[in-house]
Amino acid sequence: MKFPKGFLWGGATAANQCEGAYNVDGRGLANVDVIPYGEDRWKVATGKKIVEGFEENVYYPAQEGIRFYENYQEDIALFAKMGFKTFRMSIAWSRIYPKGDEHQPNEKGLQFYENIFRECQKYNIEPLVTITHFDCPMHLIKEYGGWRNRKLITFYERLVRTLFTRFDGLVKYWLTFNEINIILHAPFMGAGLELHEGDDEKSVKYQAIHHELIASATASKIAKEINPDIKIGCMLAAGSTYPLTSNPKDVWEAKQMDRQNYFFIDVQSRGYYPSYALKEFDREGLSIVMEEGDEKLLKENTVDFISFSYYMSKVATTDKELKKSSGNMFNAVKNPYLEESEWGWQIDPLGFRITLNELYDRYQKPLFVVENGLGAIDHPDENFYVEDDYRINYLRDHIEAMRDAINIDGVDVIGYTTWGPIDLVSASTGEMSKRYGFIYVDRDDQGRGTYQRKAKKSFYWYKKVIETNGEDLS
Ligand code: BG6
Repeated sequence: MKFPKGFLWGGATAANQCEGAYNVDGRGLANVDVIPYGEDRWKVATGKKIVEGFEENVYYPAQEGIRFYENYQEDIALFAKMGFKTFRMSIAWSRIYPKGDEHQPNEKGLQFYENIFRECQKYNIEPLVTITHFDCPMHLIKEYGGWRNRKLITFYERLVRTLFTRFDGLVKYWLTFNEINIILHAPFMGAGLELHEGDDEKSVKYQAIHHELIASATASKIAKEINPDIKIGCMLAAGSTYPLTSNPKDVWEAKQMDRQNYFFIDVQSRGYYPSYALKEFDREGLSIVMEEGDEKLLKENTVDFISFSYYMSKVATTDKELKKSSGNMFNAVKNPYLEESEWGWQIDPLGFRITLNELYDRYQKPLFVVENGLGAIDHPDENFYVEDDYRINYLRDHIEAMRDAINIDGVDVIGYTTWGPIDLVSASTGEMSKRYGFIYVDRDDQGRGTYQRKAKKSFYWYKKVIETNGEDLS
């Protein structure tokens, strides 16, 4: 029961959740900066409240993150100590093009990322880079309407061309959009998409999605022109949907929910809009503007591998009352057979194996698990040391499930990066207390603390997992 030779073990971060330094070295303002901590967070994230910039007496956790911008050398050295083979991180678009529509990139931004990649190189760590992890320059949102405007493709194209050229030879693995399907549930947080009064929400979203899909295919095209060895991946917020009962209506509901997500990857991996989606657009009178050449571009520039995050499975029901009380992003109800995290995320390692199998059955392309982990409250001692057996248990169970998918089911998995190997700001809540890391960061929900780093018990456990290529999970 082994992992393949060269399996890419590591951890994953996102610029807006760790870098901080939101206004340093020429960086421009982005959607992710103006999403507050506190009760308005979800309203802003979902586009229910439109913001122009910062409001007084409100805390914005992305402004400081965990100060990775200053601490990256120390942090990467800690990852190297754990034996990381890969490090997933993202580019802040507005560090490279502060407003988004400039013709010349910001050299200081490029230099920052070059420094990171060189630091990784020192330790033989393969960078895995997300081009946009939820972020979009505010100027593009306010001036152009963000992704609802086709011009965004041109600006994104400029960004990727700059990145692929400048970092050729330093970065091989790129992801075009983090959790591309999150735009359906949190359009402003997930893609900087604002919804205005009178908007036909579904049309606006799918028009923006079409632009993102074209942008993603364009990135694949440019990458191969620059260097055919570059590997481009898509990225899905995954987690299979189960029917609540064996009532065929629930089964059908579960299938619909899965299709809503698979739709994105169907296009990015197969290269065309699936017929179920075209029929739905037709039925609902959604007119998505496509240009000549779009179909060909999608067809000829599919992704090389499928990456995804997995935290939990979902449960579907047609029971309207139950649905209403679900209170979560995917409209899914609780699974009575599963335990859950302190934030109500259901823990389902077998579901991870099921998801791996479903994705591989559907696409037959290598899979890269780029997020998995347990958000939990840690209790550090006076030296900031944390005994996090709960985290070790969660990860062990999930790694075992992945091992089964590889060895028993024959799924092709090339790597696994846990979410937040160093504690960072939570995307959904803006909290710091929802921690995923092997490394504790002394900072609280309001940004107070020393920002000191300290290895947790899980740090030494994951080090052993990597050292033995997943053989010793004890
Ligand atoms: C994914 C995102 O949705 O899940 C990350 O790609 C996010 O950005 C992660 O942080 C965990 O979610 P949360 O809300 O616990 O931070």
